[in-house]
Amino acid sequence: MISPAVLAFRAKFNIEFKFFEEVLLARSLSLAEIFQLGYYWESKILLTAVKLDLFGTLAPLPATAVEVASRLRTSPGPTELLMNALVSIGLLRKDGAHYANAPEAQNFLVKESPSYAGHLLLLQDAEWANWGQLETAVLTGKSPVREHLFRSDPGLAENVLMVLHRVALQHAPSLAKQVDLSSARTLLDLGGGAGTHAMTFCRTYPDLIATVFDLPETLGTTERMVKEAGLEGRVHLQAGDFNRDALGGPYDAVLMSDILHYQESSANAALVAKVYRTLVPGGRLVIKDRFLDPDGTSPAWTAVFAVHLLVNTEKGRCYTMAEAEQWLKDAGFTAIHERDRSSLVEGVK
Ligand SMILES: C[S@@+](CC[C@H](N)C(=O)[O-])C[C@H]1O[C@@H](n2cnc3c(N)ncnc32)[C@H](O)[C@@H]1O
Repeated sequence: MISPAVLAFRAKFNIEFKFFEEVLLARSLSLAEIFQLGYYWESKILLTAVKLDLFGTLAPLPATAVEVASRLRTSPGPTELLMNALVSIGLLRKDGAHYANAPEAQNFLVKESPSYAGHLLLLQDAEWANWGQLETAVLTGKSPVREHLFRSDPGLAENVLMVLHRVALQHAPSLAKQVDLSSARTLLDLGGGAGTHAMTFCRTYPDLIATVFDLPETLGTTERMVKEAGLEGRVHLQAGDFNRDALGGPYDAVLMSDILHYQESSANAALVAKVYRTLVPGGRLVIKDRFLDPDGTSPAWTAVFAVHLLVNTEKGRCYTMAEAEQWLKDAGFTAIHERDRSSLVEGVK
């Protein structure tokens, strides 16, 4: 039984994503909108408040700026400035000297709330410094980061996994139906993260056993999520580096969801070839990712995400569907089939 709060959150996330795509696609910009695009003050005010857990401090009861500063161990004057700005933005209310969360802040920005959406904002805040290096990256062609955050910052990676888990909860059930695994018995979810896809596929196909292969730093989160779902008997965990270590198997099907955009093309080609060797004859590889159209400008969200990858990964980028199809072809896959434009491609061994 899914709680109404979770359903509301999913609906909101979906609507926001669609809204973002539509706004970007239909965009014709006035001068005011151009200024708004360059205006990041409110963004950083919100992200800082979330990072400090200011909304959590106000969750039980209204408080003065001095009381909030004492609880957060921050400086009272600047804390008051920040809180006044949050009132003007609409995330706090002020009555005399006392501040309270606006209903939206109480709902989405307090950790104890079932609709908490702060994981994504904490991630945006953590990537702030990398975005500050965008000009250097464009000038030099070099990323400011040396390795992706799943290796460099397991704490932050857990946040990302929680965001991805929530996103995957929305689309994994329809993905599981779309990719018919009724005749498969074994699935490898490569770089499976929190295990959301593996768990959803196991729920959809009662005879399926899944393996989540991921970095040891990540699998702690996966283990917790699988235990919470009571699926320990059906979702197994395998720790390793998929570029270096054996993947186990043989498997009837392999899923690669949102892992290839972290790597350079040659590494992806080698990984797809390695997966081919772990599949049984007739086995399927399903790749889900954010693929760009050939001219690189659409889908609109993906064109912006490609810049995100430039500053937040060492060698990652968004690829086109044609590039992914080439990796599959070179590895020996047949029946290569683009199942969903810009997001889903599969091949058969
Ligand atoms: C963006 S997450 C995708 C998680 C999940 N597949 C999903 O779609 O929600 C990327 C995952 O790849 C894993 N990963 C990255 N590099 C890896 C490597 N070299 N070996 C194994 N796992 C890796 C990360 O730990 C992380 O769980």
